[in-house]
Amino acid sequence: MDSTKRPLVFAANWKMNKTIGEAIDYVYALRPLVKTSPNQILLGVPFTVLRVMADYCQGSNLIPGAQNMYEKDEGAFTGEISGKMLLDAGAKFVILGHSERRGIFHESNEFVNQKLKKAVEIGLKPIVCIGETGEEREQGHTTKVLTHQLKRSLEGLDPTQIGDIMLAYEPLWAIGTNNTATPAVSQDVHLFCRRWISKEFGEKAADKIVILYGGSVRPDNAAAILEQKDIDGVLVGTASLSAESFGKIVNCLETKHLNFT
Ligand code: PGA
Repeated sequence: MDSTKRPLVFAANWKMNKTIGEAIDYVYALRPLVKTSPNQILLGVPFTVLRVMADYCQGSNLIPGAQNMYEKDEGAFTGEISGKMLLDAGAKFVILGHSERRGIFHESNEFVNQKLKKAVEIGLKPIVCIGETGEEREQGHTTKVLTHQLKRSLEGLDPTQIGDIMLAYEPLWAIGTNNTATPAVSQDVHLFCRRWISKEFGEKAADKIVILYGGSVRPDNAAAILEQKDIDGVLVGTASLSAESFGKIVNCLETKHLNFT
């Protein structure tokens, strides 16, 4: 499968961090550090700073997005935010099914699937997160767990839509732990996911789908991860909170996939 058909993506996941003032300072600090980067730089930010981020990212190569959404457009859903509202606030993408949402807020694969379908329908680029726990890996259940998550989360999408979404493989044992999956381990899983996509949705979709790795990515380990053939980018939590360290990650490897058009 041909990796030159895919862009290289650096996505920040700020989680529940940063006030409006802090977000503006961050954009001012990050813009000059990454202004020559040819790659896609996505900032997954809290709802409250989205509008401001959309304004401050204008005219730069930074792309703002959100970390969650609800599947309905509007109505009596106290506390929820629709995909339509995200688009209106300037979001270009949305992270769906992050393990913190699945774990802390009990989101099921079916719920993620509903949101995914809505995001695709309205033109909001989804990043769908999947990943196994440490215990599941130790018991040899990684591929079984991932297959289940992929099957249920992506159900009902057609092959042309699959090529347009992003997946993020985020092993739970690696998130926020400093315990990064080795490049070889992540490459194996990414290849497994790409082959599964190829089997279920065809080779074209598998060639096109962007698969990110997430879990303790830092400036000192990002390049080795990104050198892997089936890893098309990174989803970064902790190390994305400082513009300086996220800038270093974005600039760690500028040449991969440069012939992507
Ligand atoms: P981390 O988080 O980089 O802090 O491990 C990644 C994530 O949860 O997306």
